[in-house]
Amino acid sequence: MNSKRILLGITGGIAAYKIAFLIRLLRKSEAEVKCIMTPASCDFISPVVVSALSGNPVGIEFWNKEDGSWNNHVEYGQWADVFIIAPLTANTMSKMVAGSCDNLLLATYLSMKGKTIAVPAMDLDMYKHAATRRNLDQLEKDGVIIIPAEEGELASGLEGQGRMAEPETIMAVIEDFFGSAKKKSDFEDKAILITAGPTYEAIDPVRFIGNHSSGKMGFNIAEVMLELGARVILVSGPTALNIQHPNLKLISIQSAEEMLSEVKNHWSSCDYGVFAAAVADYKPTKAADQKIKKNDDTMNIELVRNPDVLGWAGENKKDNQILVGFALETQNATENAKKKLAAKKLNMIVVNTMADEGAGFGVNTNKISILDDRNNSQEFQLKSKREVATDIVNYLKDYKG
Ligand code: CTP
Repeated sequence: MNSKRILLGITGGIAAYKIAFLIRLLRKSEAEVKCIMTPASCDFISPVVVSALSGNPVGIEFWNKEDGSWNNHVEYGQWADVFIIAPLTANTMSKMVAGSCDNLLLATYLSMKGKTIAVPAMDLDMYKHAATRRNLDQLEKDGVIIIPAEEGELASGLEGQGRMAEPETIMAVIEDFFGSAKKKSDFEDKAILITAGPTYEAIDPVRFIGNHSSGKMGFNIAEVMLELGARVILVSGPTALNIQHPNLKLISIQSAEEMLSEVKNHWSSCDYGVFAAAVADYKPTKAADQKIKKNDDTMNIELVRNPDVLGWAGENKKDNQILVGFALETQNATENAKKKLAAKKLNMIVVNTMADEGAGFGVNTNKISILDDRNNSQEFQLKSKREVATDIVNYLKDYKG
């Protein structure tokens, strides 16, 4: 990372002591390092240590009380190629979401020209709390890269997810960010076809049959793949989501037939397929040309089976293609998912039982297990959909080997 300019923001959490190791790793890789600390973080690691290791003065206050000189947050924001905030406390996280700027670190965050990478660390219950989930989600929407907290022993003595990612992990993300990782990502330049969201099946020109799918799972997988250098074709039903990336082709469709037609156009040129869409199983036999007027007290709509988009991709899969499907099961989950895996000729199936609070449609969290056609399986904890997306992509990477 020769001469890359890294701005490191330190906030007041116990994990702040690990930042000394991160600074050493960054300096060893020949990056230039400047640090900003919140006043609270000085209770956890001395600014003298931070300054000595980084080789630069540390910014804490807006101005130096001794000589009145100004610590210009705009200059920091323009100097840095990337801003790493580690550890990120729940308090600073909520202020970043709100756009507050009552210290130098927050003012610098708002002034950053480059990307911000945030590394949260807190106790497991704080990390799980709905407010934290919401804030992490919003930060991601604001363009911040989040390195999720890890599982393990916490300073409180409890065990769970909340530990700050290790300095080596943070280092790997920074290297990836600069594209200087020695090893190329497994998905670099690979083509991924993803389906997402619901489908709308027209009853007449103003009404449809649909479902509550938000599209988040498919969009999150697309984001993780794009960050790993993949080219993504995302075929999505109607959702409120939107992402933009030079390597993304976002195709909006309404119905299962339209989704199938786009999948037919693109599947043969893709390396991976991840089909997360909640496709309507049935559609009206015939959509009325004009708005249907109400007449009788009851009304029947005849439905006919929709094409199975995933099933088509399985039937038309080449040996070198890898196909992942999803299953939403409320009973005999494993048994049913195994049948689906075989019937649709999948390599992997992601199973969601909705049995756990916070898992499934319309929420930001999900709890999954993955089964594959080599008889392996793995169960995961309740996590944000973004973290679930990372788990799925990592499983896929290990599967490919
Ligand atoms: N799928 C699809 N096209 C369909 C239906 C489903 O591509 N017409 C895909 C979904 O994107 C998902 C998987 O198939 O990856 C879900 O399989 P499916 O058997 O349809 O699941 P359910 O609808 O939950 O099945 P069930 O009939 O068991 O309720």
